Amino acid sequence: MNELSVYRCAKCGNIVMMLKSGGGTLTCCGQEMTKLKANTVDASQEKHVPALKVEGEKLMVDVGSVLHPMLEEHFIEWIAMVRGNRVELVYLKPGMEPKAEFIYRPGEDAILYTGKDDEVVPNCEGVPCNFVCKDKPAEKVVVYEYCNLHGLWKAEL
Ligand SMILES: [Fe+2]
Repeated sequence: MNELSVYRCAKCGNIVMMLKSGGGTLTCCGQEMTKLKANTVDASQEKHVPALKVEGEKLMVDVGSVLHPMLEEHFIEWIAMVRGNRVELVYLKPGMEPKAEFIYRPGEDAILYTGKDDEVVPNCEGVPCNFVCKDKPAEKVVVYEYCNLHGLWKAEL
């Protein structure tokens, strides 16, 4: 799962994230909510598409490659990272920097085979041994951000 389904009420501005789709229609204020499509609003790409950088075990996110304003009337409301079976969301306020940091350990959710205590597993030279597989599978990471005026944006690592 790397896709966030985010809906907005055009009347009151409620925003909801779909945790599980049951197939019904989301409504608010007596009307159907709008499913937001990332990166579709006509606005500055540089100020909205999240800029991603990995430093050690941290994923650093700036919005964007040119920092977005964080004014009362125009700011980034939140930044969310979707990775494997996780969603992490950071709320921001006007006056803060349009940035977030996430812990980034690719493959940490993968089940690593360590063998059973009494199990002997041959290694690549055919010599019996017990081993821990530390290979970490490549994993897709998608980062979303929401601008109060320009909507939903995303970038992939
Ligand atoms: Fe904006």
